Amino acid sequence: MHADNWYILGAGSIGCLWAASLCHKGESPRLILRESSYQQFGQKRIPLKLSTPGQTSLFDVDIVSPETIDNPINRLIVCTKAQDSLAALNSVKPHLTDNCQILLLQNGMGSQQIIRDALPTQTVWAGSSTDGAYLSSPFEVHHAGQGQTWIGSLRNGQGSEQGFNDLSDHFRLKVIQCNTIEQKLWEKLAINSCINGLTALFNCRNGELLDNGEKQAWLDELIAETCSVLAALEIRATSLKEKVHGVCQTTASNISSTCQDARKGRVTELSFINGFLIKQANILGVSVSSHNRLMDQLSAAGIR
Ligand code: PAF
Repeated sequence: MHADNWYILGAGSIGCLWAASLCHKGESPRLILRESSYQQFGQKRIPLKLSTPGQTSLFDVDIVSPETIDNPINRLIVCTKAQDSLAALNSVKPHLTDNCQILLLQNGMGSQQIIRDALPTQTVWAGSSTDGAYLSSPFEVHHAGQGQTWIGSLRNGQGSEQGFNDLSDHFRLKVIQCNTIEQKLWEKLAINSCINGLTALFNCRNGELLDNGEKQAWLDELIAETCSVLAALEIRATSLKEKVHGVCQTTASNISSTCQDARKGRVTELSFINGFLIKQANILGVSVSSHNRLMDQLSAAGIR
């Protein structure tokens, strides 16, 4: 395995955060852009700016498109939105080595499992992150909230070998390997399924859901239904209500990622968050009428 053969698919906030963090570690990741975006840049090496409260660093990074990748990929981090990840991965599939290690960093669930099943020979990992990052302009990423990223193989028995072990040391992002990544993905999905759609529907900040009124009543119904689904799936989820209310309090002034997408008229990741939860509930015969009502009202408001 080439030590420096890192590719990152997607140059949004998470793609740029990971690319800059790998550069900071001394690696030379290449950022894969869609053909149309790639064509907009005259130069094929771009300055990537990483800002944290109090510090700014600049790195030079190679950009490529699926058409211009000229060596086999043996380590790939997929940082596209959940709904774009399969198509993005298919665009680079001819370049993946058979034992390529792939790390998927999508929100929600469903997209990771589809990709795992589409790539039977490669080792597919998923990650669940609490890092907060945003782009102020293309290739200018702000690491606003230092969190942690749990990573683990999506295929039983895989991933304990070399994989992404080197992400555990001398890396500015906090990466922790775990054997229970599905549990971690569910824990995050559970919280997002209660907060994100509601903030998009009411076009409000996270903290405004705790209004002791209509929003909070709906929030608490979503929490109760989510708990029933997790219980039916035998997934451990203690104190979901305290956790969701806690996130609303600690991120009170934040605009959730889904509300931001809705404001920009973009397709949200809700079909991989609430949509995935509702699908599981239907299979299990658990009633999730508040989640269904939320998705219906979002769709009536033109938010997909
Ligand atoms: O999706 C998001 O924006 C975040 O996961 C959360 C927790 C809702 C905070 O804004």
